[in-house]
Amino acid sequence: MRQILEVLEEKRERARLGGGQARIDSQHSKGRLTARERIEVLLDPGSFEEVDMFVEHSCNDFGMADQRTPGDSVVTGSGTINGRLVYVFSQDFTVFGGSLSEAHSEKICKIMDEAVRVGCPVIGINDSGGARIQEGVASLAGYGDVFQRNIESSGVVPQLSLIMGPCAGGAVYSPAMTDFIFMVKDSSYMFVTGPDVVKTVTNETVTQEQLGGAITHSTKSSVADLALENDIEALMQTRRFFDFLPLNSREAPPQVTTFDDPERVEMSLDTLVPPNPNQPYDMHELIKKTVDEGDFFELQPGHAPNLIIGFGRVEGRTVGIVANQPMHLAGVLDINAAKKGARFVRFCDCYNIPIITFVDVPGFLPGVGQEHSGIIKHGAKLLFAYGEATVPKVTVITRKAYGGAYVVMASKHLKADVNYAWPTSEIAVMGAKGAVEIIFRKDIGDPEKIEARTKEYEDRFANPFVAASKGVIDEVIMPHSTRRRVAHALRRLKTKREERPWKKHNNLPL
Ligand code: HXC
Repeated sequence: MRQILEVLEEKRERARLGGGQARIDSQHSKGRLTARERIEVLLDPGSFEEVDMFVEHSCNDFGMADQRTPGDSVVTGSGTINGRLVYVFSQDFTVFGGSLSEAHSEKICKIMDEAVRVGCPVIGINDSGGARIQEGVASLAGYGDVFQRNIESSGVVPQLSLIMGPCAGGAVYSPAMTDFIFMVKDSSYMFVTGPDVVKTVTNETVTQEQLGGAITHSTKSSVADLALENDIEALMQTRRFFDFLPLNSREAPPQVTTFDDPERVEMSLDTLVPPNPNQPYDMHELIKKTVDEGDFFELQPGHAPNLIIGFGRVEGRTVGIVANQPMHLAGVLDINAAKKGARFVRFCDCYNIPIITFVDVPGFLPGVGQEHSGIIKHGAKLLFAYGEATVPKVTVITRKAYGGAYVVMASKHLKADVNYAWPTSEIAVMGAKGAVEIIFRKDIGDPEKIEARTKEYEDRFANPFVAASKGVIDEVIMPHSTRRRVAHALRRLKTKREERPWKKHNNLPL
């Protein structure tokens, strides 16, 4: 009997060695962990339960018959992060460069299917040379099978992608369909075609890092939500991030113990908004002073920084935060900000996460570039996302809320539940100067008249009281009591249920 058990242990040892010690050393020499080491860092100690450790590829072409590694090029299974269940696959670069064989895809599909049945998120650790070249169409079919599951799981269980090595060709589309992508700086890249093909086709010279590295994707393209320094940081931040997420779309967001008093007042917020309306201030300060213990997990901080998105907690429960940032482009809404906000709002709505919106927005960004690149359609994404969201929506206007951007930013008109305004709010079609130049154009040559008209417009609209008199602002609140007000609103809205007419699905302006 002991011999039989030893055989099992030997086979396991063989599988754990993947592509062999030399390739493990090579992986380490690039500053990367192996597939199994990554799982160890990601999950609670000892919680990983592997499946399909002995699955092998079935290809016999190109001398593959005698090159089989137990488990093939991906490690799959489940485990816990701070006690909560999650499914994981981790591509093993030491086995055929982590390339995706038919067997590899079947392993991924198996855990994705179970994750949906059980109602738990999937985290994919990507480090792969793409389709297993020796297998031809079988590996392409494998990608297709994974893609279809990405699509069917979307909105059912959260899906996270960590990119920790190469990810190229059609392979990028699986992570692209997951909810969040975290990349590792100087060690991972994503592109549809690499620098050599780019050079041949367009004659552009570009490095891998410039074309599809972590910085590129977390600043320019917005493909990635975060760029982390190394494997360990990426995995540790994923653990922290996971704690904010519900396990599936039928679950309420997780509740953690907090010692931060929901009644806490922050007197410093009374002077956050500067007296000069054109002077910026950092909206992070309001966010951090509102959420529990100042713990805010920001996403895409390097892309469209004029709109801040991320997760925090109030009374221990996860909330999604969307906020204009006056420090960048005066907090204006442009194409990138609208797309960034829209996808985040939709994620929150999928997973029952209440949305808090902090508003200080002078409008949509004017310009030929914006118009020709489709600000109309892209701006509509954010509008659509807010209007279709049925999760609790609490809005706080701190200063400017002008024009269409006022309506878009979770206004009462888009079925926000509770709309607060600070006394410093200005809710109007536009700023006083612009308004007077249009409606009193004939007086433009007379500075005194213009000044008087501007003052008149400011007195009328540079405040929240007209909006409050119409009930589209529920209450004008003291800035220092924002946390308390938001906490009370969310507590009331905990049992909110909102039904919309049946439809197959909407036609969001893509
Ligand atoms: C089979 C592969 C492989 C692949 C790498 N290997 N990619 N084996 N299929 N796609 C093997 C190598 O032969 C090598 O084996 C080992 O993995 C490590 O690869 P190296 O080239 O030595 O590593 P490195 O120098 O770090 O370069 C990594 C790499 C490069 C940039 C990923 O391997 C590469 O360019 N691979 C091909 C990428 C590619 O064209 N894939 C197809 C894309 S199309 P040994 O035995 O020497 O260790 C695609 C379509 C998807 O994926 C479509 C979805 C719809």
